[in-house]
Amino acid sequence: MRILVTGADGQLGRELQPVLAGHTLELGVWPQYDLLRPDAGERVLSSKAEVVIHAAAFTDVDGAEREPDVAMAVNALGTERVARAAAELGARLIYLSTDYVFDGLKSSPYTETDEPNPINAYGRSKLEGERLALEHCPNTLVVRTSWLYGASGKNFVKTIIRLAREQAALRVVGDQRGCPTHAGDLATALARVLHLDLRGVAHAAGSGDCSWFEFACAIVAQMGLPVTVQAISTAETRRDAPRPPYTVLANRVLAEAGITLPHWKESLKRFMQEQVEVQAKAQ
Ligand SMILES: NC(=O)c1ccc[n+]([C@@H]2O[C@H](COP(=O)([O-])OP(=O)(O)OC[C@H]3O[C@@H](n4cnc5c(N)ncnc54)[C@H](OP(=O)(O)O)[C@@H]3O)[C@@H](O)[C@H]2O)c1
Repeated sequence: MRILVTGADGQLGRELQPVLAGHTLELGVWPQYDLLRPDAGERVLSSKAEVVIHAAAFTDVDGAEREPDVAMAVNALGTERVARAAAELGARLIYLSTDYVFDGLKSSPYTETDEPNPINAYGRSKLEGERLALEHCPNTLVVRTSWLYGASGKNFVKTIIRLAREQAALRVVGDQRGCPTHAGDLATALARVLHLDLRGVAHAAGSGDCSWFEFACAIVAQMGLPVTVQAISTAETRRDAPRPPYTVLANRVLAEAGITLPHWKESLKRFMQEQVEVQAKAQ
């Protein structure tokens, strides 16, 4: 298949490249490929892709709160450009979205049929991106994921690894719950989705759930360092964007199609081992 990956330099984009190596890949990388440019659709058209995996996004949640217009321009208007061009090509569009489209007021896992109600600018911009993708490209699958981490870019796991090396004690939020998702696991699931005729919305998050505090404890335990981790409340943190307290996702649509993602603890263990190997090679 001829596949265009937008955001090819991002966490997910980089993990998609080896997983999709058997296909003809076109890599959309900023700034050559900029969703803010009115001709962003032309780039999609010139790729002649049969499938567009649209992973590029303004992903800085606090930054989006400070610059909501930019977040909306990238995540919503940029997605409309991609969707219109994908439709013109007769291509399939897979649009990556987020657990932050939900308000977090439920206490049981969110399914694909639950009503979104974002409480921050990032979530609103991604939800608008979902709406525009589905409106402008008839063959669209919105894939919502959460708490993504991988070997490249900034993410929670890499931050905790760095802080655990620098500090004897860490304070981590204990009252937000979600599903850590390894970008490689998501890439593998997406590669399987390519062979299925799924449209609409599907959740694709790591199995199991935890708080950021529990996630940090598991990372530190894997490192084997004598670092103490203390749970704090969201109210004790100063972030520009409000965070939904509970965004555990149930991957119902993928499960019905026979696709499951590994448990987050299993994936974290594998990731930490890989990080140790990478660092040993670098020394
Ligand atoms: N990260 C998470 O925890 C998380 C959770 C749920 C859903 N998601 C969604 O999953 C998808 C992949 O996330 P990710 O973690 O791989 O994101 P990421 O690492 O931040 O990668 C996003 C990519 O988009 C690029 N980009 C930013 N602005 C752009 C623009 N105007 N035009 C073209 N490209 C632009 C970025 O380039 P620069 O790096 O040069 O800015 C980056 O390469 C995104 O759609 C995101 O919304 C992520």
